[in-house]
Amino acid sequence: MRAIFALPILAILSSVYASAGDRAHDFQRCTFMCDNRECKNHSPTPLPLALRITKWTCLDNCKYNCMHEITINLTAAGKRPLQYYGKWPFIRVAGMQEPCSVLFSLFNLWVHFQGYSRIQKMIPRIHPLKTYYLVWSVASMNTWIWSAVFHTRDTPLTEKFDYFSAAFTILTALYFTAIRFFHLYTPSARALPAPVRIMAFRAWTTICVVTFIGHILYLSLPPRFDYRYNIIFNLVIGLSHNALWLLYSLPESMSLLTRFPNRLRTYCPRRLANKAAVLVTLTTAATAFELFDFPPWRKVIDAHALWHLVTAPIACAWYHFLILDASDPSWKEIR
Ligand SMILES: *[C@@H]1O[C@H](CO)[C@@H](O)[C@H](O)[C@H]1NC(C)=O
Repeated sequence: MRAIFALPILAILSSVYASAGDRAHDFQRCTFMCDNRECKNHSPTPLPLALRITKWTCLDNCKYNCMHEITINLTAAGKRPLQYYGKWPFIRVAGMQEPCSVLFSLFNLWVHFQGYSRIQKMIPRIHPLKTYYLVWSVASMNTWIWSAVFHTRDTPLTEKFDYFSAAFTILTALYFTAIRFFHLYTPSARALPAPVRIMAFRAWTTICVVTFIGHILYLSLPPRFDYRYNIIFNLVIGLSHNALWLLYSLPESMSLLTRFPNRLRTYCPRRLANKAAVLVTLTTAATAFELFDFPPWRKVIDAHALWHLVTAPIACAWYHFLILDASDPSWKEIR
């Protein structure tokens, strides 16, 4: 799940609009000529069905062909490929711009789908966090659907759906994590007196809702999409979430918060604490790995696609962990 955090950050880094490739003179000349020759004549050749379904225009197709022609020329001259509109040149498949990223996004979608049914089956109905986990799981599925769409065709609209879904998922994760750690759920642990708990719950829910609405409004309104702010927003939310789970992993003697309802501050089964620590570390490592951007191998697999590939097993392990955490005997004592 934390795996998702890095997604918007990195997708954004690679979406800074103009790149060396599309600014280059030969690319602009090639596109201009192709556009005049193929698109602006009286009977333009219709594009294949797969391209029309995925909304390729004649001009998009010119850009695609020019990009590959120039890349072949550069490679022949022993030069490194360039990026176009923030993306490496990929070979499209059935109209999909980045087929591997699409495939791996669908792989993540499947993992979350499986995770949803496991939570549904393994966490008892009366568990106070079950509904939160299910909502987060649905939010994650929605995010991976939009990630697949965005990697199929990168447009300002699919980009927004991808980023907003991801922001929603990250915020949902932080929301339920705080509710879990500060025992704000109902029925509640005795950690806080009821009125304080209810007030804290309402305040926290309001903060999250207002934050999300403000985030969407700020990014949707003119003058422009603020990529920098978006990266920082996702980083702050994602890192806060990771920090909370790191507190969970602290050894007994250093424990800062009561991790399980109606238990001592020192109580946390070691294997759970270790698992959380490993997963937080893996997620961070995966994110760092994503930052090493390299031209796609055989014009098929790049760092971003590989990163989507590794988030899937991490998410799978994360569901396993959430279920273990929810199965601790301490949860059975609250009603
Ligand atoms: C690629 O190289 C060929 C052969 O040198 C040349 O004719 C063609 O114009 C080049 N393509 C582009 C887009 O510059």
